[in-house]
Amino acid sequence: MVAERFKEKVVVITGGTDGIGLTTAKAFAAEGAHVYITGRRQERLDEALREIGNGAIGVQGDVSDPVAVDRLYARIQQDHARVDVVFANAGVSESAPIGGIEEDHFDRVFNINVKGTVFTVQKALPLMSAGGSIVLTGSGAGSKGFANLSIYSATKAAIRSFARTWTVDLKSRGIRVNVVSPGMVLTPAMATYLQNNDGAEEWMKQAIPFGRLAETEEVAKAVLFLASSESSFVGGEELMVDGGFVAV
Ligand SMILES: NC(=O)c1ccc[n+]([C@@H]2O[C@H](COP(=O)([O-])OP(=O)(O)OC[C@H]3O[C@@H](n4cnc5c(N)ncnc54)[C@H](OP(=O)(O)O)[C@@H]3O)[C@@H](O)[C@H]2O)c1
Repeated sequence: MVAERFKEKVVVITGGTDGIGLTTAKAFAAEGAHVYITGRRQERLDEALREIGNGAIGVQGDVSDPVAVDRLYARIQQDHARVDVVFANAGVSESAPIGGIEEDHFDRVFNINVKGTVFTVQKALPLMSAGGSIVLTGSGAGSKGFANLSIYSATKAAIRSFARTWTVDLKSRGIRVNVVSPGMVLTPAMATYLQNNDGAEEWMKQAIPFGRLAETEEVAKAVLFLASSESSFVGGEELMVDGGFVAV
C-alpha cells in the first residue's frame, strides 16, 4: 500500500518536467498531494503532466523571472490559497574554466540557480504556515572541486548557505528549510552526457563509493522525507544522496 503522507497537501516543484523534479512530482502525487510543477518548455510541461496524472497542474515559466514566479503563486492562491511544501529544484549546470568565464555564463547560472531559488521561496512565504517545509536542491559540487565547474559549484554552495540562514529567519513561523544534495544521478540529460563522453561513466563509478550512479527515485525518497513530518526535527541540514561520494 502506498503511504499518504501528503494527502491534500499543496506541493510546488520548480523544474518538475524532467529528471529529479519529474520523478519527485510523481512520488508526491502518488501520496495524495496537489502537485504544481514549472518548466520553461510548454510542450515538455504538457507531457510531464500526462505522466504525473493525479490532477497535477503546470505553470509555464522561467524561475529566474520573478513575474513568472508571481504567476505560479497567483494560480495556487486562486486554487488553494496555501502552500505546504516547496521543492525549489530548477537548476542548470554549465561549465567554463577560470580564465574563460563569460559574463553571460555567470549571469545565466546564478540567475536560474540562485536568484530563481530565492524568489521561489520568498514568494511562497505569504501562502505558507507552521508545519510547512522547504527543500532546496543543492549538489555535491557545492562541497567539492570539479574542473571547470566553479560557477555552478558556487551557486550550489549558496543554496547550502540559504538553508542555514532561512532556518533561523523562519523558525518563528514553524517552517523548516533543508537541502537535498544529489551526487551523480541517472537523468535523461546525464544519460546523453555519458553517451557523448567516453570514459565518464567509468570514472564516476570508480569515484562513487557505492560504485554506481543514483536513480532519480532515490533522490525523490530523500526529498519526501525532508518534506514530511518524519523529519520534523531536521533543519538547516544538507542531505547528501550521492552513494558516499562527498562523505567518504
Ligand atoms: N542530475 C544530476 O546528476 C544532478 C546532480 C546534482 C544536482 N543536480 C541538481 O538537481 C536539479 C535538477 O537537475 P536534473 O538533473 O533533474 O535536471 P534536468 O533533468 O535537466 O531537468 C531540469 C528541470 O528544470 C527545468 N528548468 C531548467 N531551468 C529552468 C528555469 N530557468 N526555470 C524553470 N525551470 C527550469 C527543466 O525544464 P525546462 O528546460 O523546460 O525549463 C527541467 O524540468 C538541478 O538543480 C541540478 O543542479 C542534479
